[in-house]
Amino acid sequence: MDKFVIEGPNRLKGEVYISGSKNASLPMMAAAILTDKDVILHNVPDLKDVSTMCELIKRLGCVCERDGKTLRLNCADISSDFAPYELVKTMRASILVLGPLVARLKSAHVSMPGGCAIGVRPVNLHINGLKQMSADVNIEHGYIVAKTEGLKGSNIYFDIPTVTGTENLIMAAVLSEGKTVIKNAAKEPEVVDLVRLLKKMGAKIEGEGESTITIEGVEGLDGVEYSVMSDRIEAGTFMCAALITKSEITLRNAPIFAMDAIVDKFVEIGGEIEILADDTLKVSADKINPVMIKTAVYPGFPTDMQAQFMAALTLAEGTSIIEETIFENRFMHVAELNRLGANIIISGNKAIVEGVDRLIGATVMATDLRASAGLVIAGLSAEGRTDVLRIYHLDRGYESLEKKLSLLGANIRREKQ
Ligand code: EPU
Repeated sequence: MDKFVIEGPNRLKGEVYISGSKNASLPMMAAAILTDKDVILHNVPDLKDVSTMCELIKRLGCVCERDGKTLRLNCADISSDFAPYELVKTMRASILVLGPLVARLKSAHVSMPGGCAIGVRPVNLHINGLKQMSADVNIEHGYIVAKTEGLKGSNIYFDIPTVTGTENLIMAAVLSEGKTVIKNAAKEPEVVDLVRLLKKMGAKIEGEGESTITIEGVEGLDGVEYSVMSDRIEAGTFMCAALITKSEITLRNAPIFAMDAIVDKFVEIGGEIEILADDTLKVSADKINPVMIKTAVYPGFPTDMQAQFMAALTLAEGTSIIEETIFENRFMHVAELNRLGANIIISGNKAIVEGVDRLIGATVMATDLRASAGLVIAGLSAEGRTDVLRIYHLDRGYESLEKKLSLLGANIRREKQ
């Protein structure tokens, strides 16, 4: 197991290249199941979740090959509908193969994901949607077992606008008979990017980015070559690193079009932004104002940025309140930030962050992907040595984070734990 050792405090300077989006790449990889032609994806980040999805796709009998930032997937010889527990337990997004498998093979055996460090995270909406599309779905021995004579279009309403649920059901609907309407669908840019890919493959979809999405089933889908959007959460994470270290950095290949809530909060906190091109922005900060943050579905403030902004706000000149509305247990980083000298208390789904003058290095434990990023950000500004343990969480979703930070001048290294 690896850990990061950070010697702080650090100042950052220079340019960082933002990688492709994890949460856009994963559903697109699953979409390869829908066709027997090549799906070629560019700008795919090289990180653990992507290799886990590749492994899963290969277990289904498909090809998944990487060449630099490009993946070639081919499911002409797909031979299995089985997503085993051993893979699904390491990556919940494995559930994204459910919809495509039922659509292509008319059956699926996909392990139930189970809970995780940030909440219970049920998949009832994915399952109910498939049932409404005429699939017979049961839970057997911890597996979702789905069968159908042929999926049929349906009207689906989500109580909660689920991101992967929307993606799963869109992928199920593209090859089904007739029209599917998904109401209260997720509007996240990663959903929109998936729909763009599917449309390029010949799918008939309208309303992506809005709360009602309409899908008209087609007979088959073609191959495609597509460049995945860049990662708005990685870009936001570097912005928080700039905030807490009071540095100026330039982000290249950033999906600025999808970052309004992050940019607005950054500016409210006291950061400055200069947009240099469509995908390039210079960010800087020399003060940290306290703010209120409430996580929400897109275009609201993303829950995936909550821990990183909280880390920056530990050094604010005053008290911030952060309300988490998406996941019920996404404050695991609070106790670890307090080990670095932060002053945060939790009250229900709110964290009250009293700004302190300085953080002091300590050994802290990463608990989930974004919490880990928050701890690294805090470690950058803490005085002395911070060891962030269990960074395998971080490796799931950030490409070469320590290398990118080192290039910006941070004193951070990877060591065996
Ligand atoms: N929910 C249900 N039933 C369902 C599905 C979801 O009650 O069937 C609830 C969840 O428990 C949660 C809320 O709905 O309270 C929203 O969850 P959602 O389904 O939207 O989350 P997800 O699709 O499992 C994706 C991202 C997460 C991100 C969330 C919210 C991927 C692969 N994952 O998860 O990303 O936090 O949307 O934006 O796209 C991460 O990258 O670190 C990460 C956790």
